[in-house]
Amino acid sequence: MGANGRRLKPGKEDSLNRWEQWDGWIPTRDVTVERTTDEEVFANATRNLGHPLQLGHTLAGHPFLVEGQDLEKVNVVTGVKGSGKSHLSKVLLLQLIASGAPCVVFDINKEYIHLPKVELDPETGKVRQRGIIHLEAGGNFRLGVRQFGLSPMMTLLQRFGLPEVSALYFENRLARLWAEAEALERERGRVPYVGLEQIMQMAENNEFGGGSNAMVVNQAIRSRLEALKNTNIFARNPQEAASLSESYRRIRHGGALVIDISALSNLAREGFVQAIIELIKDLCLWEIENGTHRFPFIFFEEAHLYVSRHSIDYIVTRARHLGITSFFVTNMIHGLDETILRQADNLFLLRIPFEDDVRHVSRGAATDYETMAAFVRRLRQHHALVIGNVTAQYPLIFRVDRLAGINTAGETRFFFQRGVPVE
Ligand SMILES: Nc1ncnc2c1ncn2[C@@H]1O[C@H](COP(=O)(O)OP(=O)(O)OP(=O)(O)O)[C@@H](O)[C@H]1O
Ligand SMILES: [Mg+2]
Repeated sequence: MGANGRRLKPGKEDSLNRWEQWDGWIPTRDVTVERTTDEEVFANATRNLGHPLQLGHTLAGHPFLVEGQDLEKVNVVTGVKGSGKSHLSKVLLLQLIASGAPCVVFDINKEYIHLPKVELDPETGKVRQRGIIHLEAGGNFRLGVRQFGLSPMMTLLQRFGLPEVSALYFENRLARLWAEAEALERERGRVPYVGLEQIMQMAENNEFGGGSNAMVVNQAIRSRLEALKNTNIFARNPQEAASLSESYRRIRHGGALVIDISALSNLAREGFVQAIIELIKDLCLWEIENGTHRFPFIFFEEAHLYVSRHSIDYIVTRARHLGITSFFVTNMIHGLDETILRQADNLFLLRIPFEDDVRHVSRGAATDYETMAAFVRRLRQHHALVIGNVTAQYPLIFRVDRLAGINTAGETRFFFQRGVPVE
């Protein structure tokens, strides 16, 4: 190990040049430009704390590995449409799974559901082969109302136009109901199930708010609960309520929960993801309390479509405390707000031909705009530039590995298919 824990082979330390910490400055005169060996680059820019992840190959054909810990906590994967962002994310995901990391993917295009599934031993229930678990929001993956959480539920109801006064009555009554349920649970261990149907019945019985406007308030609540029911994100009975922590247990030692949110409406998606983030936060707190620290790596494809700015700020700013690592994958480069870019530990850039976009993204990188522009505007197909903790802030380019033997077809359906004439 060299200075700063950077990777140096034993005995090679003297023969390799040691680089100074770089701040992005490039001298413009009286310099000789010469090629450095991959070995020297690896020794100075990458390190190995025992969790190497192979992402691809260098231009000279050597395997390109990064240290897993250096991926923690905030990562951005961006580039134009079709440049290979999702592909690189899958490479990262599979390497993380193979290294024993628990992952969560918010999949809005059914792109990750074809990755190898987790295999359990039918007798012991133990994991035989690491892989993904496909959770279909609105299908086999629905949440109970209590589990969903009051705050995401209020967000959804208000997005459905619930007036403020009614919202207050509803929130107060439900907060009381959950407090009663908790007290009962402590006393007797079990409580009667309260689902959306039961809450709708409460509105039917005018249990929210009193006085002269009780009818109006309850009517308003009732109609919004009807809308909530139609989102299909809530369990219709206790058996249907999935448990995130139970699924998480199966991938805690390597694997991914692929949460397929493609079937949900935009509104439902936002509330649902907010609820899941809350549940993930609880999982993290449990890991902290138990000193086990199996924190998730979360992949957000096109986060801006379903994660509110508030939630993004929350994830990014609390990541270090909660242990969560996130990957924001997007082609909407201007949609990446400054909080993410400034907090990003690593930027994975695929081809970005537009000057404006490069300028935006450069705000988050520890290098100057000119260097970035020179490289990322003409990155070759299937190549990525990475800069950040994984590269000691040097910009490195690598060819992203193929996903051998894995169905990467996604769900793009074509009318005109190769070699198949239209009848
Ligand atoms: N390193 C690679 N090796 C082999 N094929 C790749 C590689 N990178 C990308 N591809 C292929 O190129 C195509 C586009 O890649 P991908 O879907 O990852 O792009 P994207 O940037 O996510 O696009 P979009 O913006 O549409 O989501 C896919 O068919 C993918 O399998
Ligand atoms: Mg994609």
